[in-house]
Amino acid sequence: MAGSDQERLTWLQAEVDRHNRLYHGDDTPEISDSEFDALVRELSSLSLALGVQAPVRVGAPAKRGLPEHRHRAPMLSLDNAFSAEELRAWHERNCKLAGVAEIRYSAELKYDGMSLSLIYGQGKLLSAATRGDGAVGELVTENAKTVAGIPHTIPFSGDLEVRGEVMMSKVTFARLNDARRESGQQLFVNPRNAAAGAMRQLDPVLVAQRQLEFYPYGQGDGEAIRPTQTEVLLALQEMGFTLPTLSLRNGSFESVLVFVQQVQTERADLPFGIDGVVVKANETALQTRLGFTSRGPRWAIAYKFPAEQAFTILREIGLQVGRTGVVTPVAELVPVFVGGVQVSRATLHNFSDLKLRDVRAGDRVIVQRAGDVIPEVVGAVLADRPANSVEPTPPTHCPECGTELIEVGVAYRCPNAACPAQTTGALIHFCGRGALDIEGLGEKLVVRLTELGYLSDLASIFELRNFESELVELEGLGATSITKLLAMIESRRTPALPKFLYGLGIRQVGERTSVDLAQAFGELSALAAATEADLVAIPDVGPITAREIAHWFASDDGRRLLARFTELGVQPQSEAKREGGPFAGQTWVFTGSLEKLNRDEAEAIVIAGGGKAAGSVSAKTTTVVAGPGAGSKLAKAEQLGIRVMTEAEFLALIDG
Ligand code: IVH
Repeated sequence: MAGSDQERLTWLQAEVDRHNRLYHGDDTPEISDSEFDALVRELSSLSLALGVQAPVRVGAPAKRGLPEHRHRAPMLSLDNAFSAEELRAWHERNCKLAGVAEIRYSAELKYDGMSLSLIYGQGKLLSAATRGDGAVGELVTENAKTVAGIPHTIPFSGDLEVRGEVMMSKVTFARLNDARRESGQQLFVNPRNAAAGAMRQLDPVLVAQRQLEFYPYGQGDGEAIRPTQTEVLLALQEMGFTLPTLSLRNGSFESVLVFVQQVQTERADLPFGIDGVVVKANETALQTRLGFTSRGPRWAIAYKFPAEQAFTILREIGLQVGRTGVVTPVAELVPVFVGGVQVSRATLHNFSDLKLRDVRAGDRVIVQRAGDVIPEVVGAVLADRPANSVEPTPPTHCPECGTELIEVGVAYRCPNAACPAQTTGALIHFCGRGALDIEGLGEKLVVRLTELGYLSDLASIFELRNFESELVELEGLGATSITKLLAMIESRRTPALPKFLYGLGIRQVGERTSVDLAQAFGELSALAAATEADLVAIPDVGPITAREIAHWFASDDGRRLLARFTELGVQPQSEAKREGGPFAGQTWVFTGSLEKLNRDEAEAIVIAGGGKAAGSVSAKTTTVVAGPGAGSKLAKAEQLGIRVMTEAEFLALIDG
């Protein structure tokens, strides 16, 4: 055996062990999943080539603090395929081993969360345990009871072990990190780490606040309750577990390939993170025949998508001025492919976060596409930091207009409302989707028209028609596109009130709040006259938002802008003010799975009755309708003493 190969093998095993510990034990990975996979593959192939048995251990020993739980049957991991060819080779091997020409498969999302084993006896949840090292995990039963989609009781009298994944949705993750950023806490790298960190909290109340969700992927130890994987999952759904809409049930191998493509396209729009697709021989009898290797089942494989994290060099920390004047640091990167797109700039959030993450120009950094859209710098590889690197310092003056910046919390803000960066940012937002949605007036054109002096404040969009003949002359535009654009702008002279409000870009006023405001006040003039106290009375509007809104409407800039809109004949369409009706003044929350109605329908009933449907439980909540699998929202309602009812009771109420 060549000395260097042996050394490499030893090094690889040590590295795999180390990264395992970082990932599973400490929830603080240093490398991306695909880089880890590459290490494991090299270790496997090198040990094979050298004819030695290198046990590829995946998973880490349990941490202290929580009781241990020995799994009835080990929680194994899966082999990976990284291409359609590898998937086909696996399929053909299965056919050969089983001596058949065709195999039917179940294909599921590969949830990027934390795996959990749930044991039910006589219909009751007896225990919940993390995977740990596969043999022994940690007991987290009370924590699991706060997770949405984990029923506390099921209509099944025998012994049943359900395995699945605990996840944090992308939206919840973003909200959690926003809150952590505001309070100066270290940010979570991704939803998986946030979910895993949450599940190992010692206090279930803290876990409940993280709003976790559970998706089952199959049975653990014990006799299969149904003859196929597809039927097992459907049976679990009937017992109150949640299944995602996207899955392939009992499909041919060719349909598996199509499904993999479909998932890859829809991945970005899924509410939670996945890192691939798991393909399983559908019949349990066939699974038994195909059996296991020491690493995992032969009957299942994980098709892994390209990584969404990558390493690159941070060339420079630039500055960007947003539409509200906040100056944020931006990473100028040596271009790198992340999740299928080339990334050369990434957000660094703010200067206090930058300090926490300890990122400097010249660093080798991990880049990630958070929520599949905005690339961000996760952290730096400190071991590779150049000797002469310097800590970045926050700016003192606006990079766009030179005005001295003011410090507001963790943010540095340019107070000059006429700052060109703010003007274009605000215009882009106003024309964007969710607001006036003026197709054709995108970022590039807004910047160009602002530079040429055709656009200034938001109202100036409605003056563009005065310059038609000049605009037509502009290079690259042409008469047809200008005519179209101006017609589109005309059609927006009477925008829906919520869209208009959102477009104004008032701090703290997002799309949902805009709808709430429009419904509560009906007319723009009524909102403009509202006091902070009027505003706080609206469900989901807190004191900070109320103050921002009241300030905006009272400010000179706000009043001037609204007067300009009126002058130009821009009239936001009043909303039918929700008054009266059986749900007037009430806020309802629907949680868990509903049987007769889907959530949208249930919420529509409340809204039609003059009430409000909210996504989270607070002291302002009137009633929570909880279906099977309700978790943290139900717990919170009980904690706050809010009325809780079943779907059947809700239906009886509206029938009445
Ligand atoms: S089946 C014998 N199905 O991926 C192993 N696992 O890499 C059977 N995972 O430990 C696992 N989604 O935590 C299966 N639809 C899915 C999955 C899934 C995510 C996780 C699970 C497992 C790991 C293996």
